[in-house]
Amino acid sequence: MTADAAHRTANARIMMTGSGAPETRLVSCRDPRPVPGRGKVVVQVEAAGVSYAEVQMLRRLHPFPPRFPFVPGYDLVGRIVAAGSDVTRWRVGDRVAAMPRHGAWQEYVETSAKTLAAVPEHLDAAVAVALVTNGVTSHEMLHRLAALGPGDTALVHGASGGVGTLLTQLAVHHGVRVLGTASPAKHDAVRALGAEPLDYRTPDLPSAVRELVPGGVQAVFDHIGGRGLDAGWAMLADGGTLVSFDSSVAGYRPGQWFRPHVPALRRTAVRWAARTFKLTSGRRQCMYYVKPGAGFDAALAALFRLVDEGVLSPRIAARHPLDDAAGAVRALLDGTTVGKHVLIP
Ligand SMILES: NC(=O)c1ccc[n+]([C@@H]2O[C@H](COP(=O)([O-])OP(=O)(O)OC[C@H]3O[C@@H](n4cnc5c(N)ncnc54)[C@H](OP(=O)(O)O)[C@@H]3O)[C@@H](O)[C@H]2O)c1
Repeated sequence: MTADAAHRTANARIMMTGSGAPETRLVSCRDPRPVPGRGKVVVQVEAAGVSYAEVQMLRRLHPFPPRFPFVPGYDLVGRIVAAGSDVTRWRVGDRVAAMPRHGAWQEYVETSAKTLAAVPEHLDAAVAVALVTNGVTSHEMLHRLAALGPGDTALVHGASGGVGTLLTQLAVHHGVRVLGTASPAKHDAVRALGAEPLDYRTPDLPSAVRELVPGGVQAVFDHIGGRGLDAGWAMLADGGTLVSFDSSVAGYRPGQWFRPHVPALRRTAVRWAARTFKLTSGRRQCMYYVKPGAGFDAALAALFRLVDEGVLSPRIAARHPLDDAAGAVRALLDGTTVGKHVLIP
């Protein structure tokens, strides 16, 4: 093969080679482009999300990661450039979103045709990808799990983050009063979203919340887990819902991926049993994990419409070239930005 032909069929990608610092463990390389197998398509990536999942994979604290080395990248938006046999719903040229959970940080991704969702032509790729995992998570938690509406109050932890900025905007749009936790440097950004900021390091957060909302809040959205779930439970009004959507509490050693989730699972089970015996004043705790399917597609389509209507404007912290994947993860780790980091291959 000539050098020119090799270039035309090359696929730039990022490999995660092991646990450790992003600067040493995220390596750029080039391989041949994938060819789609049966039921699969190859998507030319326009934008891929950088998420906390990659941070957890680098720390070996993510549940069920692939074996090192692998291409990370939780979600993507791009265009189908090749389709394998048995692909009937999609055609070459269609613009799509996918959530493969890993593999998105490359120019060309082979992925299952079954779990794609359509993306409108006019939507900016970075804005669209910010909605795939984080947007659907926010939409599902707000509407399906907590079922909040006008007049309700919610506590959103991490209101300055990828999920939190979207969840806050959605909730405020639906007439929900939002108390949003963040580090003090980001309180102006949280205020700009329409929420009332609180520092998540406040020593007695439930009392601080009860001062603002004496009857308690109708929902708490928590991604930290551990004892924070007890604080969240104590803030709930009768009939309220505590949604646990991760356990990213610090202090666990690499490889102890299951341990942070044990307190959340235990509390969810105990509170479910207590609620069954009507001992919780109607309060409940549930867990959420985003997955593809009909609900995912419907939520994503609704989110795209809300962007068009000007209701939702996903915050893009930065757009990085693929080669700067390590810089993007470092920015996430440093916690100095607001919103979503996106890779543009
Ligand atoms: N269950 C699911 O399906 C699902 C889907 C998507 C994401 N997630 C999870 O959701 C979490 C957030 O993801 P993301 O993309 O929004 O991450 P992100 O952009 O890095 O945001 C993290 C947020 O957490 C805040 N934070 C840091 N320490 C905190 C603490 N002790 N208490 C409360 N908030 C704290 C940060 O605030 P400062 O920056 O101000 O410190 C920031 O707002 C991650 O754990 C991710 O794995 C779960």
